[in-house]
Amino acid sequence: MARRNLAHVEAGTVDQAPGVHRVPASNYTDPDRWLREIERIFRRLPLVLGFSVELAKPGDYRALEVADVPVLLSRARDGSVRAFLNVCSHRGAIVVAEGSGNASRFTCPYHAWSYDADGELVAIYKERDFGEVDRSCLGLTPLPVFERAGLVFAALDPDAEVDLDAFLCGYDELLIHHDFASCTLVGRQTVAGPNWKIAYDGYLDFYHLPILHRESFGAKIPSDALYDAWGPHQRVSMPDAAYRDLARKPEDEWDTRELIAGIWTIFPHVSIAEFDAGGKLYMVSQLFPGRTVGESVTVQSFLAPEAPDAERGKKIAATMRFLEGVVRDEDYFTGKRVQKALAAGAKKHCLFGRNEAGGQRFHRWVDALLATDDAALPELLRSGVE
Ligand code: FES
Ligand SMILES: [Fe+2]
Repeated sequence: MARRNLAHVEAGTVDQAPGVHRVPASNYTDPDRWLREIERIFRRLPLVLGFSVELAKPGDYRALEVADVPVLLSRARDGSVRAFLNVCSHRGAIVVAEGSGNASRFTCPYHAWSYDADGELVAIYKERDFGEVDRSCLGLTPLPVFERAGLVFAALDPDAEVDLDAFLCGYDELLIHHDFASCTLVGRQTVAGPNWKIAYDGYLDFYHLPILHRESFGAKIPSDALYDAWGPHQRVSMPDAAYRDLARKPEDEWDTRELIAGIWTIFPHVSIAEFDAGGKLYMVSQLFPGRTVGESVTVQSFLAPEAPDAERGKKIAATMRFLEGVVRDEDYFTGKRVQKALAAGAKKHCLFGRNEAGGQRFHRWVDALLATDDAALPELLRSGVE
């Protein structure tokens, strides 16, 4: 990747897709299609739902809602990460309120059935009066879950046959260089956005940086992007003149830390960006479909390589406020207006230029996944969409 970047710097070129790609405007506004996306993408593929470091000790948990599905992540007694449908086996109440913490038991607020961190049903309130049931079959429903590169992946369908390696296409070997497993989670906030694909398009697009973000941070940032892909996952970087200096040294002396700049996206809904807040600060954005086709919710999690002191804490808080403002008032402000215009039927198509290869690839993958049934999914992941 670095060699390719340097070649682009020397030649003054960027990556270009073979042609301009048209995406029907209805892809962003059609409620039926949106439901199919939830079914075939969000409820079928493994999603990044958390971080290893927020589930550091046995009993640590995080309860969240993903595409309307209540999920509970926990660290079990044997140290492994577990994911469950956060739904009581008695009469379906949500067991753990959204949020995170540490607990030896999860007690349902409705009739006090309790579960342990392994999801086992360990107590039934007034069990003798309730009548005989087999507790061992009434634990929380487990979901497929994996820990990789400090990230927790889970699938929302308990019966999904997930081959995480096939899905990641080797991308985790790159993600590992961010070393999330030894970071500290230093903050989290939520931003409301337009249709999840309108929102996500912006994370694959450098074309807009010096224009839409000129007042906040983008005035001097070039709009040129290079895309590297592992299956549906993409890294977006800029041709970087600093590679010229690097190229004066032999390649085996190149420092990996200097080679991992850019935006690292994890299909279908995650973007990883690095900022300087008195030291390295990662913003990991997780996008989720909202209540309707025209809404999404973005959870921004902030991770730092070490636990911050008070001084650094202030810088991190200021950076978080800044980034919330940029995404809410620039990206999603604009995205919501795009949503409104397209919903009004103002255009039949949106265009993705040859310099927007990342958006082109993203939409091709979404289309392919909607058209692919479960049986053909492994083959699609093997062969890709190009
Ligand atoms: S629904 Fe959970 S204990 Fe009754
Ligand atoms: Fe942006």
